[in-house]
Amino acid sequence: MAPRHVPSAGIPLNLRQALRTAIADLQRRDVPSASLAAELLLMHVLGRDRAYLYTNPEVELAPETAKRYFALVAERATGKPTQYITGHQEFWGLDFEVTPDVLIPRPETEHLVEAALEFARADSREKRGRLQRIVDVGTGSGCIALALASELPDALICATDISRPALEVARHNARRLGLGDRVRFVQSDLLSCMGAGADFDLVLSNPPYVGADELDRVQREVREFEPRVAWGGVGRGDAIYEKLFAQARDVLRPGGHVAVEVGYSQAESVRKMLGTGWVGVGVRPDLAGIPRVVTAQKSSQSSDLGPPWPASTRNPSI
Ligand SMILES: C[S@@+](CC[C@H](N)C(=O)[O-])C[C@H]1O[C@@H](n2cnc3c(N)ncnc32)[C@H](O)[C@@H]1O
Repeated sequence: MAPRHVPSAGIPLNLRQALRTAIADLQRRDVPSASLAAELLLMHVLGRDRAYLYTNPEVELAPETAKRYFALVAERATGKPTQYITGHQEFWGLDFEVTPDVLIPRPETEHLVEAALEFARADSREKRGRLQRIVDVGTGSGCIALALASELPDALICATDISRPALEVARHNARRLGLGDRVRFVQSDLLSCMGAGADFDLVLSNPPYVGADELDRVQREVREFEPRVAWGGVGRGDAIYEKLFAQARDVLRPGGHVAVEVGYSQAESVRKMLGTGWVGVGVRPDLAGIPRVVTAQKSSQSSDLGPPWPASTRNPSI
């Protein structure tokens, strides 16, 4: 449906009027954060930042630009997330390209990156005598793996995903960000591609965690546009952690850490799924105070270190 307030062709429109018109239209269509969406789309068509919009409110939009802008506003009004329209989302200060094959990175996932950095920095190369080995399970756009690669010059990172199209997006982001040399992308069901001798220092994951019983709480933007394999909606939302923890225990070195993002109200049940063989279990809240990241350390009792990573990955990188 075309926006109700699109001005007639030929009538000049300045930036302020264009924004006001778009915001009103998006609000009328119940689009969340309508002002932000209208701004981002205008920034996108103009190739300008937010400061430009607000310091040049009287600048007139060229008719072709106005037409393109209101076409994007109409697309957003269908529920399609702004990031799939612009093709971009910022995460950890880096610009990620996103397509409908990957989940749009969320700000709360930065808490998982923070936890990972704490563990990694407490366990430096000098201490370990080799590069750190980190695996990001279900990498999607690659946001977690690449944020860590940008911060940890002494880390080798393996990023897995069950979705080949998602891995292609992640690999493209790695190249664009100049971080491809220390990140390998592997198609795998969780960690099942790893050989018995893998000895990672850190296993991270933001897995799909929405349960079938939570579908009515999932926003239209997610339900209709983000890939189902990325957010879930099948069976019990927390079921995936049980399998992930069992596999993580097998591929971590003794003393290595696991850190996972969890959904609203899942932290307690996920913590219990860790089972035996873990110490120092912790739960970290996000900025809204919601328990968001569960962490644990593999007990250092066992000492079965295997051959060096990455020779132990069986699946080919893409
Ligand atoms: C919630 S998204 C997270 C994406 C990205 N890491 C982020 O934080 O934005 C979950 C990701 O896990 C992948 N995935 C789902 N099931 C999987 C499985 N069994 N094994 C590996 N990856 C899986 C999905 O394709 C998706 O990319």
